Amino acid sequence: MVTGGAGFVGSTLVDRLLAEGHSVDAVDDLSTGSLINLATARSGRGGEFTFHQLDVRSADLRELMARRRPEVVFHLAAQTDAGVSTARPLFDAEVNILGSLQVLEASRIAGVSKVVFASSGAIYGEPPSAAIPIKESQPQLPLTVGGVAKKAVGDYLLAYRDRYNLEFTALALANVYGPRQVAGGDASVVATFAGRLLGGEPCTIFGDGTQTRDFVYVDDVVDAFARAAGRGSGLLMNLGTGVETTVNDLYRVMAAAAGSDRRALNRLPGSGAPDRSCLDPSRAAIHLGWKPWTPLAEGVAATLEWHRTSAR
Ligand SMILES: NC(=O)c1ccc[n+]([C@@H]2O[C@H](COP(=O)([O-])OP(=O)(O)OC[C@H]3O[C@@H](n4cnc5c(N)ncnc54)[C@H](O)[C@@H]3O)[C@@H](O)[C@H]2O)c1
Repeated sequence: MVTGGAGFVGSTLVDRLLAEGHSVDAVDDLSTGSLINLATARSGRGGEFTFHQLDVRSADLRELMARRRPEVVFHLAAQTDAGVSTARPLFDAEVNILGSLQVLEASRIAGVSKVVFASSGAIYGEPPSAAIPIKESQPQLPLTVGGVAKKAVGDYLLAYRDRYNLEFTALALANVYGPRQVAGGDASVVATFAGRLLGGEPCTIFGDGTQTRDFVYVDDVVDAFARAAGRGSGLLMNLGTGVETTVNDLYRVMAAAAGSDRRALNRLPGSGAPDRSCLDPSRAAIHLGWKPWTPLAEGVAATLEWHRTSAR
C-alpha cells in the first residue's frame, strides 16, 4: 500500500512496484495529487492495482487496511507545501503528525509487517558547515514546521517498533526532482525552472545563487523505497547524492539542456532557506545496497522532456 500514491514520488513508486509484479493499493485524498499520475498504473499492465480516494486522517483507513491486508505500507501522504505549513501549522500537524499516527495505528491493527516512511532532510535543521554532507548521526534539530512533523513521526516509528514490533525504515529525502513534480516551493526549483525555461520566461534565483541543494532523481529515490521493503529495518537512512549543487549551477545545467541562453534574474534572498543542504547517503549504501545513479544533467534532461510532452 502506498499512501500519497497519486503524488509525485508516490505515483512513481506505484509504477515501480507494479512493474515488479506486486499488487498495489494506492491511498490518496487527491488534495494535491492527481489521477493523471496513475494513468500507467490504471492501464492494467503489471501487477494488480487499486486506487482508494481516502484521507489518511480518516478512521476508515483502519477498515481499509484490515480488509486489504497489505504486507508493506509505504507512507508518503503528506501536506508538502512549506507555505501552508507556516501559515496553518495546526492543519499541517493534523495531516503530517496525526495522519501518520493513523497510518501507524491502522498498520499495527492490520498486522502489517513493515512501514517505510518518507522523512526529510529537514529533520536535521541547519547543521554547521563542518557537518555537511549530513549523516544520520547528526542531532535532529528541525527549524521548520515540516521538519518537526517528520521528526515526530520518526519518534513514533521507534516507539511502535519497541512496543508493538511494527517494523519500519525511515528515509530522509533530499531535494527530489523529476517527471510529475509540480512547480511551487523550494523543493521543486527544478520543476519551476523547467516550466519557465520551456515557456520562454525568465527564471528567478533568490540571493546570489551560491546556496546549495542536494538534487536527487525520483527514479533513484523510488529504487531505495523498493529496496527498503525488505532491508534496512529499524533505521533512518538518508536519500541524497552527497553532492552539493549551487542553484546557479543547476540553472546553467538546465538552461543548457533547454537550449536557452537567457540569464537568470537575481532577487533578494527568500527568508528561512538554508545556505547549504546535502545528505550523506553512505548508510543507505551499506544497508540497502543503494546508490543514486542518475547524473544531474541526465535527470534534468528527462524532466525537461516530460515537461515538454506531458506537463499539465
Ligand atoms: N519531493 C521532495 O523533494 C521531498 C523531500 C523530502 C520529503 N519528501 C516527502 O516525500 C513524500 C512525497 O512527497 P512528494 O514530493 O511526492 O509530494 P506530493 O505533494 O506530490 O505528494 C503527497 C501526496 O499526498 C496526498 N495527500 C496529502 N494529504 C493527504 C491526506 N490527508 N490523505 C491522503 N493523501 C494525502 C496528496 O494528494 C499528494 O498526492 C512526502 O511525505 C514528502 O514530505 C519529499
